[in-house]
Amino acid sequence: MQDNVVAERLDAVVSRLSERAVDGYYNPYQLFKWPDSIPEDAPWMSEELLSCYGTAIWKELSADERIRLSHWEAVNFYGLNVHLIRDLMLEVLRRIHTSRYPSVSEFFHHFLGEENEHMWFFAQFCNRYGHKLYEDKRLPFEATEWSDPNVRDLVVFCRILVAEEIVDFLNTWMSKDGNLPPIVRQINAIHHQDESRHIGFGRQMVTTLWAAASDAIDDAQREALQSYLGRYVLFTLHALYNPAVYRDAGVPDPYGMRSRLLADPERSAFHYRVTAKVSDFLDRINLVPRDSLQL
Ligand SMILES: [Fe+2]
Ligand SMILES: [Fe+2]
Repeated sequence: MQDNVVAERLDAVVSRLSERAVDGYYNPYQLFKWPDSIPEDAPWMSEELLSCYGTAIWKELSADERIRLSHWEAVNFYGLNVHLIRDLMLEVLRRIHTSRYPSVSEFFHHFLGEENEHMWFFAQFCNRYGHKLYEDKRLPFEATEWSDPNVRDLVVFCRILVAEEIVDFLNTWMSKDGNLPPIVRQINAIHHQDESRHIGFGRQMVTTLWAAASDAIDDAQREALQSYLGRYVLFTLHALYNPAVYRDAGVPDPYGMRSRLLADPERSAFHYRVTAKVSDFLDRINLVPRDSLQL
């Protein structure tokens, strides 16, 4: 009964969000006016979001070194978006016309269309201004170890939600940062606009799946699920610390720098800030207790 109530709410949310997707539809291929170049002497990513901000390493960097780092970290961040989007599109594609989610199929079409466009404009940024996409070095996360379809789908939609909420923290920040070139602010603002719908959907989807799955798993599986999601949050954050970026920015010991940063308590505090909204949500629905996350 409880499950039906939650599932009905999901139906209502997806039909409202599908209408909003149609009303807010835009043509990304016409919307963005890409400049031939963006200023080399200005940051491309907000300094407060750079991977060494707030640490002893940050204080050692000159103004020029900080700006150079911001260029390559921007290329890394948008490249990471491309890789995350590809993962989540594959999972949604597998479910778009199955008997499990007939009422969500319509929304999945909007979701996939929008994510395809996001992947396009993020890759445009990387290729136009960085002349490359960084390779995807993240560990693959599968959901095949869970046999119950509700738990398996819960894992998949949690991953999508976590990825979208982490990215959205950075997008929201950069959409308002007047130090950044207009095209950078615009990309971030447009992505934030679409992602607010995806996050609204993701939260309702996760709530619905958790209501259906929570009775089907025992304590050991529940702990395994919490640990898996905790690792996914951490590894997604760690993708922001890319040794290839540090090498391109001229850092002499890129791997040493990554290790020093990941051991720095300032960075841990940043990780908690970036994930505050999604970890509050996962805690509130009794899926992942906030104090179980070690970031
Ligand atoms: Fe997106
Ligand atoms: Fe999204």
